[in-house]
Amino acid sequence: MIGVKYRQLVSSVKTSGSSRSFVLTLAMGMTFGFSFAYLLLSVVHYQRVGLNANTFFMPSSLHDDHQHSDADPHDHHSLDSVVGPSDPVSLHSHDEQFHKDDDLVAKELAKKVRILCWIMTNPDNHETKAKHVKATWGQRCNTLLFMSSTADPSLPTVKLDVKEGRDQLWAKTRGAFNYSYHHYLQENDWFLKADDDTYVVVENLRYFLSSQNATDPVFFGCKFKPYVKQGYMSGGAGYVLSREALKLFVEKGLSEGHPKRCKEGKEGGAEDVDMGQCLETLGVRAGDSRDSLGRGRFFPFVPEHHVIPGHVDKSFWYWQYIYYPSQEGMGCCSDTAISFHYVNPNMMYVLEYLLYHLRPYGINTKITIDSSAANTDSDGQHITTSVNNRVKRSLKSLTKTQRSHLFRDSIIGDDLLD
Ligand SMILES: *[C@@H]1O[C@H](CO)[C@@H](O)[C@H](O)[C@H]1NC(C)=O
Ligand SMILES: *[C@@H]1O[C@H](CO)[C@@H](O)[C@H](O)[C@H]1NC(C)=O
Repeated sequence: MIGVKYRQLVSSVKTSGSSRSFVLTLAMGMTFGFSFAYLLLSVVHYQRVGLNANTFFMPSSLHDDHQHSDADPHDHHSLDSVVGPSDPVSLHSHDEQFHKDDDLVAKELAKKVRILCWIMTNPDNHETKAKHVKATWGQRCNTLLFMSSTADPSLPTVKLDVKEGRDQLWAKTRGAFNYSYHHYLQENDWFLKADDDTYVVVENLRYFLSSQNATDPVFFGCKFKPYVKQGYMSGGAGYVLSREALKLFVEKGLSEGHPKRCKEGKEGGAEDVDMGQCLETLGVRAGDSRDSLGRGRFFPFVPEHHVIPGHVDKSFWYWQYIYYPSQEGMGCCSDTAISFHYVNPNMMYVLEYLLYHLRPYGINTKITIDSSAANTDSDGQHITTSVNNRVKRSLKSLTKTQRSHLFRDSIIGDDLLD
């Protein structure tokens, strides 16, 4: 009896054991099956998205719009229907105790490294995009101009004598730099072209340019390899010409007897390639704006694209285009990065908040006054001693109270100023 019961018990244990392992196997099988199918589907989806350079960073609501699978890396269609907030976004006051005078060094530098920013826009974008550049980072330029084909007193715009359309971008760029030259040459040292969906950290642009000489024929931006021997600068990431480069561009490149590679009739919308070819012919150097760690400062996409490893497939055009090898992950990007592209208007306000207001408590915002910094001339890879001295002089010109305010959260102090 006991033996039978035991055998029944054993067999029932066995049955339940095998049914449990059956359930387990089934569950594992299903999990694996679903995960595999999901992976497969997402890879398929990923590749489809990957064909279109511009859908990576779109809010999901915009993913519906897949009609524009234009492989043109300079395509702007994906942001066409994006509008920003219609009511003005309230900003924090500059005088709030938490931030009061935290920009004194930047303000000093703004007097020495003067930047004209001109924004490539068009009538459809005045209200939906350009307005938000004006409300955010555009304020920090010494001169801010909006280049369009129609007059709009609300921005206001400079009405260029061009037709609208992507194939007119080269004509617009020529007109815009020509206008900047004729009206603002002496008031500025550097001349930045940006799009109405580019976000620029103007302070970092000044910081980088403070170790450069505006009398050099040079321009900086996110350098791409093809089409131009010395490389050209991505239009969307924004590029900046020295005063000397602007002079050459307008006085020679737009003159009667201009070189062939600066010619008017080039059309097709790749104004950045056109610009790169023209400037190369004029002897304007395509500069290197990486930092001392080899990290980039100008970027043709939103931060997510650059920071997240594997976010874009290795076959994506970007990897073939970039001039300098770029690391994946945060190694991509300098701590003093300057620009990002395809930034929608809402994100501009988010960046404003993250960059200029949100502060992690107890983290010092160091100001680089590093007198031991190597004085190299290799394209501003180091802030030079002369700049350090300039920053020191700026600091010295502040009152003691202003300085103590400036240094209240900082590990550096007045003793560095002798
Ligand atoms: C540049 O601007 C000047 C002054 O506004 C104008 O006379 C000239 O025609 C322009 N040149 C080009 C090539 O647009
Ligand atoms: C910039 O270059 C010019 C000559 O090209 C030179 O005279 C001037 O001293 C330089 N300025 C600085 C700050 O290096």
